[in-house]
Amino acid sequence: MRVILIGPPGVGKGTQAALLGGRKGVPSLSSGEIFRREIEAQTDLGRMAQRYISHGELVPNGVTIEMMAKRLRDPEIRRSGFILDGFPRTVRQADSLQEILADLGLPLQRVYSLYAPDELIVSRLSGRMGCTKCGAIYHSLSKPSTREGYCDVCNSPIVVRTDDQPDTIRERLRIFREETAPVIEFYEELGLTRVIDASRDAEEVYKDILSELE
Ligand code: AP5
Ligand code: MG
Repeated sequence: MRVILIGPPGVGKGTQAALLGGRKGVPSLSSGEIFRREIEAQTDLGRMAQRYISHGELVPNGVTIEMMAKRLRDPEIRRSGFILDGFPRTVRQADSLQEILADLGLPLQRVYSLYAPDELIVSRLSGRMGCTKCGAIYHSLSKPSTREGYCDVCNSPIVVRTDDQPDTIRERLRIFREETAPVIEFYEELGLTRVIDASRDAEEVYKDILSELE
C-alpha cells in the first residue's frame, strides 16, 4: 500500500493512519509526529521545527522534504509501502515526492482527501490528547483512554498538544486552505484523489477508505 492521507488539522488523518496501518501492517509516516519526537528529544531539528509548529506555521520545505525523503528511502519502507500522513502539504513538497518516488520506482496508488466542517474540526481538536511516547490518539469525549491521563497502548502519559490552542488552530486552518488545498488539486489532475467524508464515525470512514482501496 502506498497512499497519502491529506486534509485539514483534526480531520482524523492520524486516526485513520493508525487504523489502516494497524490492520494492514503498513507503517504510517506522519511528518507532524516525526517533528514532535525530534522536539521531545531536543535535537537541532526539533528546536528549529518547534518555532514554526508552536505558531501553527509550516516548517520550511527544505528540511521537511529532506527528513521525509530519508524515511521513504529506508529499505523497510520500500518493501512494506507507506501511509503518508501530513506530507506533502505544499505543492513544492508534492513535486519533490513525485521525484523521490519515481527514483525509487514506487508510484503512489491513492490520495485520500478527508474533509469535515470547521465546527466539527474545532470540537475534535478541543478534546484531543496524544501519547508522548507512541503517538496514540485519544479524545476526552469520543475516545477516552481507559486510565485517565495514560496511554492504553504503552502506559506513558497522554497530553494536550501545544498547537491545539484556539488561535493556533485558526492559523493551521488558514494555512491548510492557502498551502495544502492546492496539493489536493495537484493530485486530482493526476487522477489519484478520492474524496472521503470524514465527518462520520472513525470506523465508517475507515471502511470507506478500505473498500475504495480494495
Ligand atoms: P500534524 O501533526 O500533521 O497536524 P495537523 O495536520 O494539524 O493534523 P492533526 O494531527 O492535528 O489532526 P489529524 O487529522 O491527524 O486528526 P486526529 O486523527 O489526531 O502537523 C503539526 C504541525 O507540524 C503543522 O502545523 C506544521 O507546523 C508541522 N508540519 C507537519 N507536517 C508538515 C509538512 N509536511 N510541512 C511543513 N510543516 C509540517 O483526530 C483529531 C481528534 O479527533 C482526535 O481526538 C481523534 O480521537 C478525534 N477523531 C478522529 N476521527 C474521528 C471521527 N471520525 N469521529 C470522532 N472523532 C474523531
Ligand atoms: Mg495527526
